[in-house]
Formats: sequence, C-alpha cells, structure tokens
Amino acid sequence: MAFPTETVYGLGARADSPEAVAKIFQAKNRPTFDPLIAHFPSFETAEQWARFDERAFLLARTFWPGPLTLVLPRIHDHNGPKIPDLVTAGLDTVGVRVPAQPLALALLDAVPFPVAAPSANPFGYVSPTTSEHVRQGLGDRVDLILDGGPCTVGVESTIVDLSGPYPRLLRPGGLPREAIEEVLGQNLVWEGFRPPVLTEAPGMLESHYSPAVEVEVFEEVSRLEARARELDGNCAVISASPISATHCREAVVLGEGAAMAVALFATLRRLDDPRTGRILALLPPPDGLGLAVRDRLYRAAHSKMG
Ligand code: TXA
Ligand code: MG
Repeated sequence: MAFPTETVYGLGARADSPEAVAKIFQAKNRPTFDPLIAHFPSFETAEQWARFDERAFLLARTFWPGPLTLVLPRIHDHNGPKIPDLVTAGLDTVGVRVPAQPLALALLDAVPFPVAAPSANPFGYVSPTTSEHVRQGLGDRVDLILDGGPCTVGVESTIVDLSGPYPRLLRPGGLPREAIEEVLGQNLVWEGFRPPVLTEAPGMLESHYSPAVEVEVFEEVSRLEARARELDGNCAVISASPISATHCREAVVLGEGAAMAVALFATLRRLDDPRTGRILALLPPPDGLGLAVRDRLYRAAHSKMG
C-alpha cells in the first residue's frame, strides 16, 4: 500500500514480517542491501523497537512528528531482533521515523506494528510527491494508494545515525542540518555529497533520483548560460531564484527555502521528456533546505557520469 508522508509518498508493508517486506523490494525492483525506514505513530511506540539514548530522545522529542529519521540500535527479544534483517539489510541498527502527515499518522495508529516504507517509486527514479506520481511509477504493482494531496516538504527525511559515538548525517533532507546541530549542541559528521551506503554498493546508489533526461549541475550562472548557448537552447533551466535571461526552452524558478524543496521532484518529473533536451540546474547554497536540494541534484546528475 502506498501512503502520503510530509516528505514523499511511501510504499508500506508491516515491518515485522519479512514476507510482507519482501514484496516492497519486488515492487520497487530494489536491491535488498539497501535498508528500509520503519515508521511509527509516536515516540512511545518507536521506543519499543529501537534503543534511544539521550541524544536520540532529545531529537525525537524536538522534531517528531517530522522529516527526521534516526538510525538506532535494534531491540532484541527472546526470538532475536524485533525488526527483521530484511528491513535493516542485516545491520544491527534500524532507521526509525514518525512522519508529520495526518493520514500517515492515522494509518500508523490503526495498525499494531511498525510500517517499513521506502519512497514509492521504482528504484533509482525520482521520488513521488503526489499520488499520481506513484500511479505513474508503480502502476498495478501497488494495490492501494492513499491520496493525501501533494507532499508539503517535498524531499525525503534527514537521516541521522546515532548508533556510534559521533552523530552522523547520512542523508541531508527535509529537516535542516543546522536545526539538528543546534539542539544537539554538536556538529554532525558528514562525508559530503555521497550516497550513504556507497561502499556496500559501489556505483549502484548513485543512480538515485534520476530522470531519463540528462541533468547537469552548475555553481555559477555564467557557466550555466555558456552551456545553454552551447546546446543552442535545447535545454530547460532550473534555479531557486530567477536568473537573467538564458537561452533555453523553459526556465523554472523553484523558489527559495521550503518552496525550493517542495517543487524539486515534481519539476524534475515534468521536465523528464525527450523534448526537454537536457536539464541544467543551478545549485542552491548548501544551507537550510539547500543542502538536500543540492544532494538530490548531484545524484540526478552523477548518475549520468560514466
Ligand atoms: O522521507 C523519507 O525518509 C521517506 C518516507 C517514505 O518516509 N522514505 C525514504 O526511504 O526516503 P528510502 O528507502 O527511499 O530511503 C531510506 C534510506 C536508505 O537508502 C538508507 O540509506 C537509509 O535510509 N537507512 C535506512 N536504515 C538504515 C540503517 N539501519 N543504517 C543506515 N542507513 C539506513
Ligand atoms: Mg528512495
């Protein structure tokens, strides 16, 4: 079943059932070494499945429900780990999150188990931010789509790994890094713009978030404009704020701050048409939601390099 969250639509199955979870991997064509996030209706329920230390407690209390996933140690009972290996890709940690979306919370509240859910798109493609995107991508591979309207955040949750001594940023996302660092009173360790489990899957996860049309990213307007001229205008341009007249088929202004994230995936999807030529994107500064938008644009572009 697909359901809305405030970040992107998820494809859910009961997280305590390997048989149910296996169907997610099938429907998405997703490799099983890529772990899934377990979704809960509250901190109190999450606490029964993953071990929270003080830092985790603090972040959960401050930011849940919301676009933050915490990677924490799994809890074991007499039968072994409560969250099965298929969800965690065999790791002894689990990603846990409480989404801030009324329909998602109602769903999670109604069932007596956590819901494992990746984004509801075929593996490697741009994540869905409307129910229509889910239908276009998964079609009859999904039995039911709960429609909660367009997602209000528009990029996936920020993932913070608290299973080790230093808090690590695994994926920039809908909750700005600065907000987390302020609450922790500590900087997050971050490897930069690389997929988090790259070492376990060389080359594979780079192809995340990529439309079929080629994406090129630029730090400077002048470079982008030179490229657009080179392509003789056979391109579409994406930027957060308006840029001076560029020779292109279409110039999309995403907007600043939250608006930029909300519009990103729908824009990439709309422009994913052979008639677009190429997508030239101006990278936003790496602060606030700009960090997540940069990350997604890099991944969309990197997938086309070698
Ligand atoms: O906003 C979101 O997080 C959305 C909505 C549906 O909640 N979900 C989402 O899931 O983006 P997905 O499967 O597309 O991305 C989950 C990522 C994995 O690719 C992996 O990088 C990381 O979360 N992850 C999950 N569990 C982990 C773990 N135990 N250790 C390290 N990384 C983990
Ligand atoms: Mg995904």
